[in-house]
Amino acid sequence: MVEDRMVWLNGDFIPWENATVHIMSHSFGRGSAIFEVISFYDTARGPAVFRLEAHIDRLFRSAELLDMALPFSKDDLCDAVAGTVKRNELNKGFVKVVCFYPEISFEIIPSSSQLSVSIFALDPEQDLGAKGDPFTEGTTAYVSDWRKLDPRTVPIEAKAAANYLNGMVARLEVQKKGFEHAIMLDTQGFIAEGGTESAFVVKDGCLLTPSTGTVLKSITRMSILEVAQEAGIECIEKQLKPELLVEAEEIFLSSTPFKVLPVKQINDRKLPDAPGPVARKIAELLNAIVAGNVDRFANWLYIVE
Ligand SMILES: Cc1ncc(COP(=O)(O)O)c(C=O)c1O
Repeated sequence: MVEDRMVWLNGDFIPWENATVHIMSHSFGRGSAIFEVISFYDTARGPAVFRLEAHIDRLFRSAELLDMALPFSKDDLCDAVAGTVKRNELNKGFVKVVCFYPEISFEIIPSSSQLSVSIFALDPEQDLGAKGDPFTEGTTAYVSDWRKLDPRTVPIEAKAAANYLNGMVARLEVQKKGFEHAIMLDTQGFIAEGGTESAFVVKDGCLLTPSTGTVLKSITRMSILEVAQEAGIECIEKQLKPELLVEAEEIFLSSTPFKVLPVKQINDRKLPDAPGPVARKIAELLNAIVAGNVDRFANWLYIVE
């Protein structure tokens, strides 16, 4: 049960039910929280956190973009993530790191610059009753009428809570139409990404994904590109026209929780063979890496001692 989990807050472990903030706190009222969602896996050497240093680097980049001062070092936070997994006696699951302004604040600028840092670890099967295998089940997607946040309006590279209303409205829109995931275009009309996922298409055997600038610098996206190159799959990052969604042999979404999520229907177009060969190859390699079976990528795993 999720309620039994212990939460790391500013260096101490506290019970789940005590991990609360006031409704008038700045981060609740204005969405000024930054966060990371990080996966960890069961390996022969114990639980291993996937690309922990890259996630913590991105957290620091989010803080920098929003002029926030993190009160812990990168090493402290890596230790704290590993410590939270250990304290909760978990072998696989997710960690969420949330940094927020707890002070009561009536203004747009927080009343105090003191950030709090919290870390949650859970196993979605044990704690949330999650079932099934997203890779084999796949998903359905629809191109939302909502456009991805324009990078000239807010720093979209920051993983900030307030940016997520964008993905929420897109997802709500497509779910009302009977689809599971949204694919959003950027304000210039090129493919951007999902609400909380990166987007990939395969055309003539080549793996294509939108270049960064209008999309989040996703850790899974970056990992997939590296793994695909290793597997000899040609990869191109560039602006992608939405027509590609009609022509592509394969379409898949990616993110920390499920890595590769094949799209089996996009709008009224069915892709009955999803997952296709490229998605399969990448998923196979990623599965081997997160299980700790690929020496070349051993440094992607942070072993929880
Ligand atoms: C907008 C957006 N794109 C892509 C992703 C995938 O990022 P990552 O692979 O780092 O989980 C996320 C994750 O939440 C996201 O919010």
